Amino acid sequence: MKPLPMSEKFRRYRRMEEAATGAVARLKLTWSRRRLVAVFSATVIALGLILIIVIAGGIRRQDDDRRTIVSDASPSTVRLASRAHNETLGFGGIAYLSMPYRTDRQDAMELLGSVYGLNLTYIPGVDGAAIVDKAKPLHHYWLRAPELGCWRAHVDAWRYLLESDFETLLVLEDDVDFDVHIHDIFDVLSRQMQHNRIRITPPTPYEKKAAPYGLDWDVLYVGQCSDANNDNRIDLVHLYNDPHAPSREDTWFHFIGQMESLGIRGSDFGKMRAITPSWNPVCTMGYAITRKGAERLILDISYRGITAPVDIDIIRKLQQGIIRGYTITPPLFSAWRVDGAKDSDNQGLENNQTEVGAGNRNGYSTSLKTSARKQLVTMLDLHNWDDVARVFPERPNPTMTPDQEAEDKEEQRKADIEKTVINRAWASRRLEMAQTMEQWGG
Ligand SMILES: *[C@@H]1O[C@H](CO)[C@@H](O)[C@H](O)[C@H]1NC(C)=O
Ligand SMILES: *[C@@H]1O[C@H](CO)[C@@H](O)[C@H](O)[C@H]1NC(C)=O
Ligand SMILES: *[C@@H]1O[C@H](CO)[C@@H](O)[C@H](O)[C@H]1NC(C)=O
Repeated sequence: MKPLPMSEKFRRYRRMEEAATGAVARLKLTWSRRRLVAVFSATVIALGLILIIVIAGGIRRQDDDRRTIVSDASPSTVRLASRAHNETLGFGGIAYLSMPYRTDRQDAMELLGSVYGLNLTYIPGVDGAAIVDKAKPLHHYWLRAPELGCWRAHVDAWRYLLESDFETLLVLEDDVDFDVHIHDIFDVLSRQMQHNRIRITPPTPYEKKAAPYGLDWDVLYVGQCSDANNDNRIDLVHLYNDPHAPSREDTWFHFIGQMESLGIRGSDFGKMRAITPSWNPVCTMGYAITRKGAERLILDISYRGITAPVDIDIIRKLQQGIIRGYTITPPLFSAWRVDGAKDSDNQGLENNQTEVGAGNRNGYSTSLKTSARKQLVTMLDLHNWDDVARVFPERPNPTMTPDQEAEDKEEQRKADIEKTVINRAWASRRLEMAQTMEQWGG
């Protein structure tokens, strides 16, 4: 093969050299660009982190102000809080609303009351269609018949308080569930309410002596489906520790949202509850009222007329500032759901009542550490013969002598033989009868 001319060889080396230099230069450029991007991102991240730490520190400081948890255990506080262990949880009375035809739910409520030491007074629910026109409140045309019935039943409960000599009344609906430590939970609540830092007037001497939850409210929500904070007064919150508060996993998401907006997070869940001014409490499953509260509610949601279904009307009055309330989050009462919404009586007789639900079985509730309804079964289930065997181990009949016992056994053996003979005779007799029937063509 003829060698290449020198110039041609040189040109080729030159091209290769140029290509290599170009590649190295490109590589350097790429590297420096990458470094620039990396340094830039690191700076952004670092600045971001610093910002987050500063903001979190600020929130934490703000929280700390609201987090001075009252743990007053002075004898007078403890004594008043111990009323929570009486049959009406330290309220004057406890009433529950139930449609007269829901005897299954009334049974369940009376059972719960008996097992957990609560005196529950039944107030019959009302069929709105049965209310005569003259008795309907002003603007009642806003409400459908079932909503009118619901309004009537709650007014009846408020009236029950006025007719009694109670100072407060706890009103429940007939599908509530609660924690098995209900009395302890209200004991803890009472201690906090006695030192409630968001009340606007100091407790009167009478309240200090006789009102476990104070009397500076019209409504006290302990069984709402949800509430929201008054955005303008998010500073008004009284947080407290409750060993029976539900864990985050057990808590209904609405309450998690509200708790988080109040600065509760992470490991504080499952330990804390919040007292806030009621602002948008949905549902009337469990709330207490004072005598003054019952007067205001009847004045504004009956005497003067209504503007919306009863729970919405209460919300309007709360937001207008016509009535005062506090809400406990997560609440202390929760709904026991069977068959979802199908089992609700809020639609009154409009619901298809021929549809059969699963009764009280297979229900569930949320936001409770230990459900009273679930625990009921465990508490009441008896295993009598196991218990008898434990206390009295099986042993020979002590009144028989060994001779009598042997005789008894012999009698039993003879009786068994006789029974077998009779059974056999019957079997052959039946066969005979069947054959006869066949002969006769039957
Ligand atoms: C429970 O305590 C409250 C508050 O002292 C009281 O008003 C109520 O009558 C008591 N209930 C019973 C059943 O003793
Ligand atoms: C339950 O409360 C009602 C209403 O206050 C009262 O009449 C009744 O005697 C109480 N029952 C018991 C067992 O204490
Ligand atoms: C109610 O439910 C029953 C049983 O599911 C069904 O037979 C009946 O047609 C329903 N009535 C109405 C009015 O929907």
